[in-house]
Amino acid sequence: MSRDYEASPAGLIEGAIAVPGDKSISHRALMLAGIADGRSEIDGFLPGEDCLATMRAMRALGVSIAGTGATQVVVDGVGLRGLRAAAGALDMGNAGTAIRLFTGLLCAQEFDSRLIGDESLMRRPMERVAKPLREMGADVRTTGGTPPVEIFGGRALRGIRYEMPVASAQVKSAILLAGLYADGATTVISPAVSRDHSERMLRSFGVRVDVEGLAVGVHPPARLAAQRLAVPGDFSSAAFFIVAALLAAGRGGVLIRNVGLNPTRTGLVEILRLMGGEIEILNARASGAEPVADLNVRRSALRGIEVPRALVPLAIDEFPVLFVAAACASGETLITGAEELRVKESDRIAAMSAGLGALAVRHTVLADGMRIEGGGDGAVFDGGVIDSCGDHRVAMSFAVASLRARGPIRIRDVSNVATSFPGFVDLARSVGIDVRESA
Ligand code: S3P
Repeated sequence: MSRDYEASPAGLIEGAIAVPGDKSISHRALMLAGIADGRSEIDGFLPGEDCLATMRAMRALGVSIAGTGATQVVVDGVGLRGLRAAAGALDMGNAGTAIRLFTGLLCAQEFDSRLIGDESLMRRPMERVAKPLREMGADVRTTGGTPPVEIFGGRALRGIRYEMPVASAQVKSAILLAGLYADGATTVISPAVSRDHSERMLRSFGVRVDVEGLAVGVHPPARLAAQRLAVPGDFSSAAFFIVAALLAAGRGGVLIRNVGLNPTRTGLVEILRLMGGEIEILNARASGAEPVADLNVRRSALRGIEVPRALVPLAIDEFPVLFVAAACASGETLITGAEELRVKESDRIAAMSAGLGALAVRHTVLADGMRIEGGGDGAVFDGGVIDSCGDHRVAMSFAVASLRARGPIRIRDVSNVATSFPGFVDLARSVGIDVRESA
């Protein structure tokens, strides 16, 4: 059954919160811990539907994992060559990261695998992953470019040097995972920076990873050593509260504790600061291989900008909520070079355009972005009905938009918020955002 949010205009928001664990890091932690030798402990794991799909898949492949639904997870690794064929198809749900990374990991195994997912995942491009893996000698077949993905195991893989046409961390990571099993070093060269969680975590597990500019090389290890891993709060989840605070924080601002601040993820902070946003980074520290900090965010009068293209891949998951911020800025904001938004959980340019249109925000859709005419301070959105298109980040972005709305916003089809942000409604309500879920 489809669920909706009813988000009503609220006054000022304030408080101190922590967001759930990082989705990208949680997927990688389960996979690498599963193929390590010995027992790994993961703290701060994200028990969202996407990562639970990865957990179920690792279990189906023979890995024993304790802690379903918990943020503390214990994984008994089976070693690099210890995975076993699953009894049936592996269902990745809504998780693009899971299906791409598993394609890399499983094409190197002795057995066959079949990967499927939900309606949205079954539409997402897989050839970007399959093609380089075939170059390595893997037998990976897509169905007209999308899932189901059929993987035939027992192929010897060779190390390759691959120039990626898109700056995708999922493609890069899939190749690096296959590279763990290749006969020599594997190097991936990206056209631009993308998130580097795989590189950092592989090193933690004792794998030699060479990074030179935009080239990342992995050397096949004899084994991965079990680890204790701390997963920081997900910057992409914090993003909704960063923008919410810029739009409506009371005097004290909103404090968000223990947020992952990996520089390959924090483009939104730079973009919002260029727009005049007051975001203070406090208590910066290391949490294992990842940088974390607390963020204090104050209400700020935002101004429209031309978003520097170099920042686009560093903010790729944050555009839905950035569009909302831009709609509340004074003047025009221009976003280009973001065509990857077309192939996310939804076509995020189309989904956000439909939603902004329903709330009477003036904007122009571009093939690779959007031009948004900001309404400035005060209420800038009409109330209305939004279709999230089953996309968690679209749903949460319009819940944030309610802070500057004249009337309630009904957001349809929000169940997928649970893929990345279990507990979003309660946390949002705890700072004063008036959002509730209804059937
Ligand atoms: C992710 C990489 C990005 C991002 C996704 C998570 C990852 O996708 O949008 O939400 O964990 O590697 P692309 O690799 O397609 O850019």
